[in-house]
Amino acid sequence: MNDNQLQQLLQAMTLEEKIGQLTQITGELYVGKVDAEMVETGPEYASHVLGDGTLYTIGSVIGASSAKFTNLIQSEYLKQSRLKIPLLFMHDAIHGYKTIFPIPLGLSCSWDENVLETAAAVTASELRASGIHVNFSPMVDLVRDARWGRVMESFGEDHLLSGNLGRAMIKGYQKIQEGRISAAGVAACLKHFAAYGAGIGGKDYYAVDMSLREFFDYYGKPYEIALQEQPKFVMSSFNSFNGTPVTASKRMMKDVLRDRYGFDELVISDWGAVAELQKHRVAHDGREAAELAMNAGIDIEMVSTLYLEHFETVLAQHPALLADIDAAVMKVLRLKNELGLFENPYASEEEEPSVILNADFLAAAEDAARKSCVLLKNDGDALPLRAAHKRILLVGPFAGTKELLGNWACKGSFDDVVSLADGLKQADPSLTVDVCETLADCPADVLERSDYIIASIGESWTLSGEGHSSVDIGLEASQQALVRAVKATGKPYACVCFAGRPLALQDIADDMPALLWCWYPGTRAGAAIASLLTGQATPSGKLTMSFPRHSAQNPIHYNEYSSGRPANASSYSSRYQDCELGPLFPFGHGLTYAGATYADFDISSDVITADKPVSVSFTIHNPSGYAYPEIAILYIEDVVSRSVRPVREMKAYQVISVPAHGSVRATLTVTLEDLHYLDAELRRTIEPGAFRLYINDPRQPVFTITH
Ligand code: IFM
Repeated sequence: MNDNQLQQLLQAMTLEEKIGQLTQITGELYVGKVDAEMVETGPEYASHVLGDGTLYTIGSVIGASSAKFTNLIQSEYLKQSRLKIPLLFMHDAIHGYKTIFPIPLGLSCSWDENVLETAAAVTASELRASGIHVNFSPMVDLVRDARWGRVMESFGEDHLLSGNLGRAMIKGYQKIQEGRISAAGVAACLKHFAAYGAGIGGKDYYAVDMSLREFFDYYGKPYEIALQEQPKFVMSSFNSFNGTPVTASKRMMKDVLRDRYGFDELVISDWGAVAELQKHRVAHDGREAAELAMNAGIDIEMVSTLYLEHFETVLAQHPALLADIDAAVMKVLRLKNELGLFENPYASEEEEPSVILNADFLAAAEDAARKSCVLLKNDGDALPLRAAHKRILLVGPFAGTKELLGNWACKGSFDDVVSLADGLKQADPSLTVDVCETLADCPADVLERSDYIIASIGESWTLSGEGHSSVDIGLEASQQALVRAVKATGKPYACVCFAGRPLALQDIADDMPALLWCWYPGTRAGAAIASLLTGQATPSGKLTMSFPRHSAQNPIHYNEYSSGRPANASSYSSRYQDCELGPLFPFGHGLTYAGATYADFDISSDVITADKPVSVSFTIHNPSGYAYPEIAILYIEDVVSRSVRPVREMKAYQVISVPAHGSVRATLTVTLEDLHYLDAELRRTIEPGAFRLYINDPRQPVFTITH
C-alpha cells in the first residue's frame, strides 16, 4: 500500500478500532485453546472488554510462536475483523529463538559488534520464519548490581559498550534494505526505558532515584547511543524514576525519549504496566491509569485493556490526545505495511523447518559461545589440557546436563544442546570422558584412573532472569565443597562455571587454579567450551561486569566516583572493613592462552583540541599459535576537575584480529568530545587540564595529555 492508502485506512477506522490497534493481548483468545507451542500463559482479561467486536480490532499478539500457530491465529482474526488489518506478532527472543546464543551478558564479553549483529540476524531469520514480526530486544539497561536477576539480559556496566552492542543488535534484527525491514528481518524493541537496571538494592521492578547528571551521563547513554540505529519500538520500564512511574512519566517519555533523544517511533508499555500504575498508587483506578499512560505518550498497552475500557472518558477530558492516537495508529499501519503484511500476513509452514536451527546458525552460535567465555584464572597454565591428559573426569551438576541455555531462552530446546561431556568427546575422540554428578558418586576406579578433573559448577539457570534477584550470590556450599574435594584428590584440575550473573567467589577462588566463566552459552555450549578446554582455540572474552568478592559488595563498577578518602588500608577510607579492596575480577579482565604483549606505545600529540583528536598506537605481539580476537581498551582519568569524576572511564576499545606467531599495530582514539561531562547544573563541560590515558591496565598510565 502507499501512504495515501494507509491514510484512507486510518480515516475508515472507528475510534475503538484505533485503540484496538494500540492494544496487545495474548493469542489464545482467537483459537480457543492454549497450546504450549503457541502462546505463553495469558493473563485474565476482562471479558466485557474483549467481546467479539473488540477482539477483532486488536493490533498485536504477544508470545505466539511457530508458523502453524501464528498463521492459525492470523487467519481466525482476519476472518472476523472488519478492516482486515493483519496482526503483528511479538516475542522475547533475547538471545535466540530456536538456535540459542549465549545470554546477552555473555555475548557482551566478546565486545564484538559483529558477533552481536550476527546473533541478532540469525534470531530475526528464525523469528520471521515462524511468523513473528517484532522482537523485544535488545535490553541496554546499565547494570552495576549483580544481585539483580536481569543482569543476564544486559551488556554490563559500561554505557558506551552497552549502547554500541545494542546498536549492533538492532541492526542485525531489522536488516534494513532500501529503507525497509527486509523479508528476514524483524522490528527491534529497545528496552527498558529508562534506568530499569538501577532499582535500589538490586530489587526487580523497584524504584530508581538518581541525579539527572548520573542519568544523562551514564544510565541514559546506552539508550541514546542505541537509538541512533532507529529501532521501531521502545519499551517503557516498570520502575519509577525520581518519584514517577516511567509508564506515567511525560518527562521521561516525551521530554527525554522523544525530544532530547529524538525517538519518533512506537512506545509500548511493559507487561501489565499500565494497570500497575494503580499499585504504584499514582492512579486511583483503571481510568486514571489509562489517562496517565496515554498522556505520558505510551502508544501501545501490553496485556491489560485499560485503554479500550476507558478511552471515551479519557478522550473527553483530553481531546488533544486524538491527534497522538492517530499518529500512533499510523505508525502501526506503516510498520505492518513495511513488513509486507497487507500483501501476505502468513509465514510459510513449508520453509520454516529449513530455516530453524540450520547449520550456519549453529556455527554462528558456537562461534559466539566461544568468544563469550572468559578465562578468569589460569595459575600455572592449568588450562588447556595437555597431551598427557587423556582420561578426563567431569564432575559437578553441569557435567552431563543439557540445561545450558540460560533463562529467557525463548523456544530453545534442551534436546538440541551439546552438553559439556558430549562436547569434549566430539572435540577429541582420543579422550576418555567420565561423568559424575558428585565425587562421592564417582566409582573409585573412575576417580583413580582419571588424569585431569574438570569441576563444572555454577548457578542454575532458573536463578537469574526476570523476577530473580538474590541477596546471596555466592557459590552454593555443596559446590564449594566439591571444589575443595577435587583439590584434595591432588590431581590436576580446572573449574568451568555456568551462571547468569557474576557470582561472589571470595571464599573459594583461591582453590580454583583455573576458572573458565562460561555464562550460559546456548545451544552449542559443550562444543564451544570443549574447543577452549582442549586448546583448539584460546579464550578471548573480557568481563563487562565487575565480579564482587562478596554479595554485599554490590553495587560495584569500575567507573566509580573519586572520593575524599580513596579506599586504602585504613578503615577510615571508602571501603568495607571486612572485605578486601576492589572487585575479585574487574571489568575488562580476561586471560588468553596466547601470552600476547603490548609494546611500542606512541601518541599522536600530547595536546587535544576539537579538531585534533589524540590517537594512541601500540603493537600487539603474539608469540603463540593462536589467531584470536584481542580486546584493547582505553581508559581516561581526568586528573583534576571541578566536579567529582569517575576514577577511570573507558573512552575507546577495539576487537583486534591478532595473527598466530605475529604482530599487529592498533590505534585507539580519544576526541575532545569524549572528555566532556555534565556538571552539577547539567551543563556540558570541559575544563582545561591534564588527562591520563591507560591501555588495558587501569593502574598504569601510558600517556598524559592536556587540554
Ligand atoms: O519484554 C518483556 C520485558 O522484558 C519484561 N516483561 C514482559 C515483556 C514481554 O514479555
